[in-house]
Amino acid sequence: MSGIKVTVCRDSEEVAKAASGIIARLIRENPGAVLGLATGSTPEPTYAELVRMHQEEGLSFAGVTTFNLDEYLGLPGDHPQSYRYFMQKKLFDHIDICPWNTHVPNGMARNIDLECQSFELKISSVGGVDLWLLGIGANGHIAFNEPGSAINSPTRVVDLSSNTIESNSRFFRDPSEVPRRALTAGIETIRSTRRVLLLATGPSKAAAVAEAVKGRYSCRCPASLLQKHPKCTFIIDQEAAAELQSTGR
Ligand code: PGA
Repeated sequence: MSGIKVTVCRDSEEVAKAASGIIARLIRENPGAVLGLATGSTPEPTYAELVRMHQEEGLSFAGVTTFNLDEYLGLPGDHPQSYRYFMQKKLFDHIDICPWNTHVPNGMARNIDLECQSFELKISSVGGVDLWLLGIGANGHIAFNEPGSAINSPTRVVDLSSNTIESNSRFFRDPSEVPRRALTAGIETIRSTRRVLLLATGPSKAAAVAEAVKGRYSCRCPASLLQKHPKCTFIIDQEAAAELQSTGR
């Protein structure tokens, strides 16, 4: 049976308020918290709310350490479509976090296998991730763990599915510029976190959310592998919940 707790909010603004509230509470209780972060359009309003809390309510990130889920292979951190760039612009540049405490896999690393191993080692060396914020792909992926990813997969290099390349091409001037490979935290890396907060908004996520929560526990829908996590909450808007609500969940 699925152990995923689902919180349905009215809209993406409410999702951002709920998610940022949980993150802020964690940081206030534990100023040295270790956060796992995601890129994509879904968490953007949550980051905007955290920036507002920093600026207006004194929420401090000075002791916080962060790890990001993934990065395109071959894009430098100053490339506008790189995930390092996204994090700088949406969050890190506007808060008091120490730059050296922000970890995004390096898509330009000369030795990619070493980069993956050192990412895992860095997570272990700070005692693991307290809370990992996730999005979900329309095909059920989490980070760049596409359907078929093994439950015990570590941080590694992956080929992106055509589905994901097409969906991400909206951010690139020329679709042929979308990288075909990426570095991603594995399913095991994500499942090892103490708490998972998965956000989903909009109708394009409804089927994936329903499959993850109510479907079979199967690597065909990577997000369904969160069903056995002891503390996993999906915070979703009404549109993303549409296929759950039809059965009264
Ligand atoms: P999105 O991406 O937030 O841009 O929809 C989520 C994902 O693909 O994990």
